[in-house]
Amino acid sequence: MRQMILIGFLQAQNCTNHPSSWRHPESRTDSWSPDFYRHIGRVLEAGKFHLGFFDDRLSMPDMYGRNHAHTVAHGIRCVKLDAVTVLTVMGMATERLGLGATYSTSYYEPFHVARVFATLDLMTGGRAAWNVVTSLNDGEAQNMGRDEVLDHDLRYDRADEFMEIVLGHWDSWEDGAIVQDKTSGIFASPEKVHRLDYEGRYYRSRGPFTVPRSAQGHPVIIQAGASGRGRRFGAQWGEVIFVAYPNVEIGRRDYAALKANVTRLGREPDHVRVTQLINAIAAPSKAEAEDKWAAIDKLPLEIDALSLLSEALNFDFARKGMDEPFSTDELAEMSGLQGIRDRVLQASGTKAPTIRDFITISGRGRVHNPIVGGPKEVADQLEEWFVAPACDGFVLSATHVPGAYEDFVRFVTPELQRRGLFRNDFTGTTLRENLGLPVPAIGAWRPAHALHQRP
Ligand SMILES: Cc1cc2nc3c(=O)[nH]c(=O)nc-3n(C[C@H](O)[C@H](O)[C@H](O)COP(=O)(O)O)c2cc1C
Repeated sequence: MRQMILIGFLQAQNCTNHPSSWRHPESRTDSWSPDFYRHIGRVLEAGKFHLGFFDDRLSMPDMYGRNHAHTVAHGIRCVKLDAVTVLTVMGMATERLGLGATYSTSYYEPFHVARVFATLDLMTGGRAAWNVVTSLNDGEAQNMGRDEVLDHDLRYDRADEFMEIVLGHWDSWEDGAIVQDKTSGIFASPEKVHRLDYEGRYYRSRGPFTVPRSAQGHPVIIQAGASGRGRRFGAQWGEVIFVAYPNVEIGRRDYAALKANVTRLGREPDHVRVTQLINAIAAPSKAEAEDKWAAIDKLPLEIDALSLLSEALNFDFARKGMDEPFSTDELAEMSGLQGIRDRVLQASGTKAPTIRDFITISGRGRVHNPIVGGPKEVADQLEEWFVAPACDGFVLSATHVPGAYEDFVRFVTPELQRRGLFRNDFTGTTLRENLGLPVPAIGAWRPAHALHQRP
């Protein structure tokens, strides 16, 4: 029987992706301590989650009013730790949980990213995953020595080459390359360790790579592109895809389209797992969950939404009054997550929406459309999405930490297991084994993907 995948959406920061979460009475206040991450890792592992994954952004939100004062004052994601370093701590506290981190293709060298994640994969016994993002706002660019973020599609063109280099390096050491024969003095077979010699339009990298393959071959690739170009990129490279479909009906349609795109690219659709972003507020009963939700919904401030919208759209929302319509030129200037702008244009029914429309329709800064209920109600909704099928599993975002994960594991996981929708235990030691993904053969990605590779 097909069973669902569960992923914890984690942030190595002072709040979850909901800035108000740090004000929740039960939120821990030590999110920069190792024990905080060890505890979350253990909770997810006890709940048999496949993966805990950390998002990333390379700047604090300071587009609103072009100043960081409000961000720091209100704790709007102003602390942001390096995700891979934090993952290492979580990896040392767990044995089976998959460990994913986000790294940007726009601000690092591919050799560096390949080495960081290959090393993490070895140090965690084959449990690593890399969420590939291209970054989106000027704050990140300015922290990394550039003036502004690159154009949207160019970021993805560069990222294609980036992937060829990373995967190419991950293929450098054939299985069985290491001999370690102390008598003959041969450490490894030179004919089994290869140089990449990559010369692309945007990147060059020579090799040979310096990290041997791990128990799962190489880290699992995660992607979450939402635009047309982003979805194409995801279908080409992603093994786990994060989606945020607005409802089951659209989900069913887009899920089928995504799998069809994967097939068209010569890949096996079952080897690409699609996971839907959810917020769940779970309690022993529906009434108790609704009380919890009412308390959580009181926490957000308007400034949370204004700050996050400015950051996500790479546009200063302090330039406008709350009910002043945006001009066509201003809307065109929004260069970050254009999907948000497009959804607001569509749902507001006007070509000149206001900031208020953006806040209401996007739900940014608030817990948007949560699944609220006791074990039965939450499991019913997840089952509906899963059997549609509109996804292969879920990425659980937290209203507060660690409580939101603890509640899910305590109340929802047993009900999903009782229904046979979720496994009772880990099925292997590596992340690929647990996701049901095969160890990739050397070069398996090449025939369908090679874009610029020169021998
Ligand atoms: C669950 C989830 C997690 C994401 N995590 C990140 C992240 O950590 N960093 C980031 O810059 N973007 C993140 N994104 C945004 C996507 O990478 C992507 O940029 C966005 O969906 C817009 O699509 P586009 O790049 O095709 O325009 C995430 C999206 C989803 C649904």
